[in-house]
Amino acid sequence: MKKIRVKTGNEYEIIVERGILDRLGELCVQTAKASKVMIVTDTNVEKLYLERAKKSFEGLDVKVHTFVVEAGERSKSTENLVLLLETLAENEITRSDAVIALGGGVVGDLSGFASACFLRGIKYVQVPTTLLAMTDSSVGGKTAVDLKAGKNLAGAFHQPCLVLCDPETLETLPKEHFRDGMAEVIKYAMINRPDLVDRLYEYTPGDRDALDEIIAICIEDKRDVVSEDEFDTGIRALLNFGHTPAHAIELATKYEMTHGSAVAIGMAIMTRASVRLGKCDERVLGDLLGLLDKFSLPSRCDFSAAELARGALGDKKRSGQTINVILVCGKGISEICKIGVAELEGLFEKGLE
Ligand SMILES: NC(=O)c1ccc[n+]([C@@H]2O[C@H](COP(=O)([O-])OP(=O)(O)OC[C@H]3O[C@@H](n4cnc5c(N)ncnc54)[C@H](O)[C@@H]3O)[C@@H](O)[C@H]2O)c1
Ligand SMILES: [Zn+2]
Repeated sequence: MKKIRVKTGNEYEIIVERGILDRLGELCVQTAKASKVMIVTDTNVEKLYLERAKKSFEGLDVKVHTFVVEAGERSKSTENLVLLLETLAENEITRSDAVIALGGGVVGDLSGFASACFLRGIKYVQVPTTLLAMTDSSVGGKTAVDLKAGKNLAGAFHQPCLVLCDPETLETLPKEHFRDGMAEVIKYAMINRPDLVDRLYEYTPGDRDALDEIIAICIEDKRDVVSEDEFDTGIRALLNFGHTPAHAIELATKYEMTHGSAVAIGMAIMTRASVRLGKCDERVLGDLLGLLDKFSLPSRCDFSAAELARGALGDKKRSGQTINVILVCGKGISEICKIGVAELEGLFEKGLE
């Protein structure tokens, strides 16, 4: 078992332990002291883990309600947000009760935002069941839903009161979603953790202990970054490594390409550009490309630098403005660079060579 303490606005614990899903009820009562809970999940996770989650409350004198959304990004909608808020009200959930997010980042972001809004903020517990949600979206307190105009446009910072990661749940996660999460894991290695680069090279798929340790390292790393910059005004930008070109690629493929694949290509673009700019040597790029290859993630795309720059900057005129990009300056070392928006295309050009 690994316990990671997060010291943001409210302090809370992230526990990584196989089988901990069966202790959800007990730990929820201990930490949130709730007498009613609303478990939010999606249609895939419902079939796999909802019964076990509910069973963990047996004998605890807690009333358990459930709210199930269709699996997929489309469920991170304002419609579901309102529906969830109305359901919380109908079931007379109060500030001493709690929402439980059982699922991936979609369920986590939607439940987190509903918890931030309902009664101006109630407690919520995250039980992430995807690699991405365990290592990324459940840490840091960013919650959101999508608007028609774009992803994550309505949201709030709202920290959970407890996060329970049960890596055993990853055994049912489809390969492509595991791969997607691995792109973000590689991101932590590239920006901050040279030791994780080596661990990922040594990792043999199926090695459970190694996977649990990798998950814990990512959580600790994100914890350290967000504790220093809870509201995303400085160092947290490092976590956007590869994401500027990735957003453009997602947009250009009309979200056909998954986020993880787009981030993988984005990281390759930014690392190639870093090498060409003399920020780091070829070996660092070799490390990244080797890891992407090991986890079957792509490193190239067919879009031009102009297309990517246009997508990354949006249609709005941004002349005279600057944009932060993340460059790699060594193994597991990165920096935030402010460049003029006009320079972005040139940078991508270097990254596509
Ligand atoms: N809040 C943040 O800081 C943050 C950070 C990164 C990403 N996000 C958000 O996270 C979302 C993506 O999260 P995601 O990749 O977890 O996607 P997701 O929640 O859609 O889950 C991916 C798929 O896996 C299924 N699934 C989940 N757990 C499973 C399991 N254990 N076994 C089998 N199937 C399972 C889901 O039903 C879904 O079909 C995006 O909306 C993104 O914007 C938020
Ligand atoms: Zn990401």
